[in-house]
This record gives sequence, C-alpha cells and structure tokens, in this order.
Amino acid sequence: MSSSSQPFASTLDVLASLLPEHLLKPRFGIVCGSGLSTLASSLRDVVEVPYSSLQGFGKSTVAGHKSSLAFGLIGEGKGIPVVAMLGRFHPYEGHPLSTVVYPIRVLARLGVKNLIITNAAGSLNPKFPAGTIVVIQDHLAIPNLAGPLNPLLGPQISPNFPRFLPLSDAYSVTLRQHAFRAVHALGLPDDTLQEGVYAWVSGPTYETPAEGRFLRASGADVVGMSTVPEVVAAREEGLEVMVLSLVTNAVVIPEYRSIKEEIRRELATGKPAELKPAATVSHEEVLTVAATKTEVMKAIVAKIVEAGSV
Ligand code: 6GU
Repeated sequence: MSSSSQPFASTLDVLASLLPEHLLKPRFGIVCGSGLSTLASSLRDVVEVPYSSLQGFGKSTVAGHKSSLAFGLIGEGKGIPVVAMLGRFHPYEGHPLSTVVYPIRVLARLGVKNLIITNAAGSLNPKFPAGTIVVIQDHLAIPNLAGPLNPLLGPQISPNFPRFLPLSDAYSVTLRQHAFRAVHALGLPDDTLQEGVYAWVSGPTYETPAEGRFLRASGADVVGMSTVPEVVAAREEGLEVMVLSLVTNAVVIPEYRSIKEEIRRELATGKPAELKPAATVSHEEVLTVAATKTEVMKAIVAKIVEAGSV
C-alpha cells in the first residue's frame, strides 16, 4: 500500500459511527505490548472495536496479543478519554512498515496528542533484572545500520511533514518526568522504574550471544522487536511519545565457552567434558513475567495520563 492511498477517511468514519461522543476524541493513546493488553481493564465505559472491522489495519498474529482498539475513560470523576491498542503489528509478521504504523497515524487523526507505548523486552543491563520497567530515553534502530527498514521511507504521507525528521528529542521529557513522579506518588520502590536505551531488532529470532554483546557494547539497555517504527511515525505526526519497556528476561551474555579448552581438559584429565547447552529465552517466559507486572504498569500509566491531562 503506498502511503498516499491509506484509507484514513474510511477508518475514521467507521470509528465515528461506533463511538459515543464522549469517547471519540481521546487525548492519550496507549499501545499495549506482549501480555500487557490487560492494561485496558482499568478503562471505564469501554467500547472495543476489532481491527478486523477497520480498513487499513492488519491482523496481529502473536500469542499474548489481542486485536482491537479499546476506547474508554481513565481516572476519577468525569474521566479522561483514551484509546488503547490491544495488540500491535510487527515487521516479523510480514506486515509492511506502513501497516505497522497505520494505527498510530489513525490515533493522531483522532486527536491523540500523547502516546504511551509499552512493550516486553530483554535486558542487556545486569542492573535491570526481569520485572524492571524501563523508561526509554533513546533508541538504536539496528536496521539503520543493516538495511532499509524505516517507516518513513518512500513518498511523504503529508507535505506538511519534514522530509528529514529529527529524532534527537523523540522521547518526551515531560512524560518521562510524569513517569518517575508516578512511581513516587504510588509509593513503589525506587528500583521499580529505571531509564535506558532500547535497541530495535527485526526478529523473529532472539539475539545470538554475539549480537547481545554487540548491542550492549553499543549502549543499549534493553532489546525488542517493536516500538521504534511507531515512535518514528508518532513523532512525524507531531505526538509526544513515551515508552515503557517491561523487562521479561535477561539476555544471557555469557563469556564465550571454549569447546577447544574443554576438550583439551578432557584429554588431559580423562574426565568427559560437560554437555550443558546454553540457556535460551521462550515467548511463554516473556508472557509469564509480563502478567506479574501488569498491575504496576497499569497504575503508572493511569498516573501519567492524569498528570498529562491537566
Ligand atoms: Cl531477549 N529479545 C528480543 N529481541 N525481544 C524480546 C526479548 C529478547 N525478550 C522479550 N522480547
């Protein structure tokens, strides 16, 4: 799909026909990552619109991801209208980047001004164990080094957007400040929330140990397969963006094991070398850890929305 032929008018018409007036102009968008769709369970007056009823939306195919937009209210009193994406699209599912970022552009056209993106990520930083939530302060888009994978490639979607979008201020200082205030206000331990750099890799393979070492040496704290295309498109659309990465596992970066040394020792001692294989990550592990932290994530997100809507 060329960017200029995207069916915004149709998508927006369908939403306008399904939504009550008080939900139609959400101020905040929330992207719910792997295992984090329950973030939307704190919304009131919810209207859920399946992606399948919206032209231009792909089908998300990953376990732990739903496939709908949830409109609703957050916070006390009248409430603040928000829209949550339950499930997102990834390049590794075969979706073109224009599809990956299409929902973000729809949210921008609904009037969303602030976007909170969540994801599950692996940790490259020994100080960030599983369960840590990381406020992203910058990113490394490895495809920038390896090949043409950028959602803004091709004709510009609007002549009003800059051809060369700066990303030095991609992650909103205001929203990041709200996040750390939220942790304090909720009385959560200081190590609940950290800050760091997100490395985007295409997936669907997890990193090899050598790749993990490369990313760590390049200054990344966490690594994942999503988020960066959405951040780039959201910035192009003029949104304030913040990202919360939930660490679901440590990327194991062991010292290289020398089989040569092990066999040399075996020959010298007569004691057979151990056959223990390397540790690996599983998607189930990712979903299990995500489930244990949804309540905390939910509370932080709600506080940020309240602070950002006054
Ligand atoms: Cl270890 N790697 C990547 N690329 N994505 C992840 C992950 C690891 N853990 C959760 N998501």
